[in-house]
Amino acid sequence: MRKNILFLKKYLKNPQSVGSVIPSSEFLGKAIFKSVKELDRTAVIEIGAGTGAITQHISSLNPVLVEIDKEFCALLRQNYPNLNIVNSCALEQLKKIDKRVGLVVSIPLINNPFKLSFIPLLNDLYARGLLTWCVIFTYGLNDPLGQVNFESKKRKRFVLQNIPPAHVWVYS
Ligand SMILES: C[S@@+](CC[C@H](N)C(=O)[O-])C[C@H]1O[C@@H](n2cnc3c(N)ncnc32)[C@H](O)[C@@H]1O
Repeated sequence: MRKNILFLKKYLKNPQSVGSVIPSSEFLGKAIFKSVKELDRTAVIEIGAGTGAITQHISSLNPVLVEIDKEFCALLRQNYPNLNIVNSCALEQLKKIDKRVGLVVSIPLINNPFKLSFIPLLNDLYARGLLTWCVIFTYGLNDPLGQVNFESKKRKRFVLQNIPPAHVWVYS
């Protein structure tokens, strides 16, 4: 409950960055875990971890968590003391990648200026063989990473039991 109130507070303060009124559901978390498990094993980075709604389901993969909000980071550190949690803009962390990774992305991209820098960074990482795959969820119908030159892309799952219902896209 505390997590939901904190999340709503953050949404009201910055709707573009937080993107929804409540954290993702366990159904979406499980769908993302299932999608990741079907991909090549690699180091995982979760960007936009929020209160840890997705982290809860992928924590066994030992992801690095990147979250821009300080309060969310404090909560993540409490709940996931064994994970590496970075309080930073995801763009800064992506620039530092020097070994192959898979990315779980929760940052909303619709009408978000973040996307303008995010897309070229992903293209660069993928071209250099450092980005193995990317799993992202979206509330809209459009391909969220259509501008990235992935060899393969698929709208893999649709999760109705989430507010709002979400599509899980997988790129590799
Ligand atoms: C839609 S919420 C998802 C939260 C959580 N993963 C979930 O599914 O409930 C988006 C999260 O991305 C974070 N975020 C937004 N922009 C970011 C950025 N540039 N770098 C890192 N995190 C960011 C927000 O603070 C928020 O926690």
